[in-house]
Amino acid sequence: MSLAEGNLHGAELLQAQAHVWNHIFNFINSMSLKCAVELGIPDIILNHGKPMTLSELVAVLPIHPTKAPFVYRLMRILVHSGFFAQQNGSGNTVGEGYVLTNASQLLVKDNPFSVTPLLLAELDPILTEPWHHVSAWFQNDDPSPFHTAHERTFWEYASQEPKLNQFFNEAMASDARLVSSVMINECKGVFEGLNSLVDVGGGTGTVAKAIAKEFQHLDCTVFDLPHVVADLEGSGNLKYLGGDMFEEIPQADAILLKWILHDWNDEECVQNTQAMQGGN
Ligand SMILES: C[S@@+](CC[C@H](N)C(=O)[O-])C[C@H]1O[C@@H](n2cnc3c(N)ncnc32)[C@H](O)[C@@H]1O
Repeated sequence: MSLAEGNLHGAELLQAQAHVWNHIFNFINSMSLKCAVELGIPDIILNHGKPMTLSELVAVLPIHPTKAPFVYRLMRILVHSGFFAQQNGSGNTVGEGYVLTNASQLLVKDNPFSVTPLLLAELDPILTEPWHHVSAWFQNDDPSPFHTAHERTFWEYASQEPKLNQFFNEAMASDARLVSSVMINECKGVFEGLNSLVDVGGGTGTVAKAIAKEFQHLDCTVFDLPHVVADLEGSGNLKYLGGDMFEEIPQADAILLKWILHDWNDEECVQNTQAMQGGN
């Protein structure tokens, strides 16, 4: 049957259209979340201490008065996507008010496990721009869409642009705070019997610091590119070392690779493994 005649009708046709629309407009979810975080909505609702009505929220939001009618739309998206819930208030609060969900608790500034730095980094135009170049990348010989968008690798860009270096490292550190807490609590046995460990591509050292603190007999080295570790100083059983993991990696009883191999193709991962074994 020719598609020109249309093989879908009625509900099926509308469902197919809705499916496409959901994917066309998917970005609205992440951009609305970014907007809520930039306006400080999770912190405002937390500090309110009880369900916060729309008018209470609008009254304290740092927005232009002409934008007040649009806050409801933003909140409706974020309730739908599970970042805020609505509860009936008590006392003087009339009607339903917004409360945080488990997910938006992770967006509060002072939460030690805040994922806000990761959210702001991943949704920064420097990191979203490459997604507009994926089809061009399929047609050229660039190593990544990032390269097509910015004409250099991510690591080159980060070494040249201190702002990117800083927000990216902070994003990694925020993830590392959450993950290292789970790792230290749940996976202690992995570290038994080790005397030394090197965290290859260990960023600013959040994971290694947590390990070094918990296992004080263990010598921990954070190994990363020179511009990442340049201003960092170790202490006690923790030290920092700048270098290139494709050339040589310091010897240790254990090598930690967190969020590293996904950045590289298979050949590069093999080259990396050879550097771990002390040669190219
Ligand atoms: C995705 S981040 C992961 C950081 C950290 N392991 C974590 O999970 O929080 C990748 C890290 O690899 C580092 N890196 C990239 N190329 C490297 C190289 N050639 N030698 C050493 N480190 C490198 C980056 O600077 C960055 O800190």
